[in-house]
Amino acid sequence: MNNSNNTIAICGLSWGDEGKGKITDYLAQKADIVVRFNGGNNAGHTIEANGIKYKFKLIPSGAPLEKELIIGNGCVIDPKVLIEEIENLKALNKKVNLKISSTAHVIFPFHIALDGLEEASKGKYKAGTTKRGIGPTYSDKAQRWGIRIFDLIHPEFLKAKLEKLYPIKKRQIHLYDPGWNMEFEEIFAQYKQYGEILKPYVIDTAFYLNKALDEKKMIIFESAQGSLLGIDHGMYPYGTSSNANALGIPIGTGIPPKKIGKILGIIKAYTSRVGEGNVPTELFDDVAEKIREQGHEYGTVTGRPRRVGWLDLFNIKYSVMINGVDSIAITLLDALEGINPLKICTGYEYEGNILKSWPIHHEIIEHCIPIYESFEGWPVITHEGWTNIAKSGYNSLPVPMKKYIQFIEEHLKTKISIISIGPNREQTIILDQNLF
Ligand code: GDP
Ligand code: IMO
Ligand code: MG
Repeated sequence: MNNSNNTIAICGLSWGDEGKGKITDYLAQKADIVVRFNGGNNAGHTIEANGIKYKFKLIPSGAPLEKELIIGNGCVIDPKVLIEEIENLKALNKKVNLKISSTAHVIFPFHIALDGLEEASKGKYKAGTTKRGIGPTYSDKAQRWGIRIFDLIHPEFLKAKLEKLYPIKKRQIHLYDPGWNMEFEEIFAQYKQYGEILKPYVIDTAFYLNKALDEKKMIIFESAQGSLLGIDHGMYPYGTSSNANALGIPIGTGIPPKKIGKILGIIKAYTSRVGEGNVPTELFDDVAEKIREQGHEYGTVTGRPRRVGWLDLFNIKYSVMINGVDSIAITLLDALEGINPLKICTGYEYEGNILKSWPIHHEIIEHCIPIYESFEGWPVITHEGWTNIAKSGYNSLPVPMKKYIQFIEEHLKTKISIISIGPNREQTIILDQNLF
């Protein structure tokens, strides 16, 4: 760990939707800059503060507090969505202090079309994507077909590159859907206009961020998705196309790895998953229904009901290792109210053996049987009740909840520094005042 206290990474340790938006917003109270470094508008980060509910897809979660916002080079940007988000903030009279990396890649309508069509042909290997064009855009980046924000704001480059890319993408789409016929001129004219709108926000963010680090600015790196969805260290192919973990920060921003001060891992008190792929601790009974309703587990981006299950400390332990987590924020503990007993998975059994480490490959994970410990639950408490508990602090938490938390800390050998017991900013208990 770097000794500097002026940067913190906020990383989801599961399959996304751990409450990164809420925790980022909370810590942004002390921040100068909030940076997104991966993903695109597949993300949905919810913040509830001062009676307003924000749902951000591309905009970093420092926006409600009017912090400086940076969308780093590791992101893929659908300009239409970003422009809408900027307009929404302006309509709320929020100052939009945004900087967009000139080297982030641009999502086009043909990427979105391909996302859905290619998924359909993957059969049981489909990830259940958000169909926002994320995978096809990262593919073009890796293939060096990609069109970057720099091109978007220079119509001559946009035109020259689009002239090469468009016919290829059209042919690819026609393999699946011969009826697709979005004209080149239409796309070019639309994206030229987007470029004009976004131009004032575009800079070389790597230079900007490195200077900000030298000036000891307080910086938050906000991950999208979760570590288990990461392209390199997640449950491939049932994930996304970026490094949705702390390893993605240097690549996705241009910040040297040693400059990242602390890594805060975010977990929710149970497991949730949108999309496909095996979830060993998944529940299908009325307990699942209760958790889904109490946790409002419906996708922010697609509205899909999220799959839910017991907390899986076996895969989280793996994420703690991959991310180099210094401490943990646990969210949605209140959503488990009234459920008794609770269970936590501590390991997997595979072919009669107890595994020593999380097996990584879905071909193995699909045949694993979770090993559980049982815990006493806590009672149902009102929304105001949780707010009051948060005000009074850790000692006022229900005793069984404290035991649940202590078990997690001991099992992961990692301190819990933040406890979240409601969606609002004030429903938060900070255990480490020196966190950031
Ligand atoms: P993210 O993608 O990691 O930012 O998470 P999402 O915003 O997609 O999903 C988390 C949901 O849980 C959002 O609706 C939040 O408002 C909500 N939330 C966050 N923390 C808590 C909490 O401690 N309790 C409850 N009840 N809701 C929470
Ligand atoms: P936040 O930032 C939860 C999932 C999709 C799908 C897989 C690939 O809100 O935590 P993609 O569209 O990225 O190609 O889809 O990843 N997924 C998410 N699940 N939260 C997210 O973001 C997600 N972003 C992508 O459901 O299984
Ligand atoms: Mg989300």
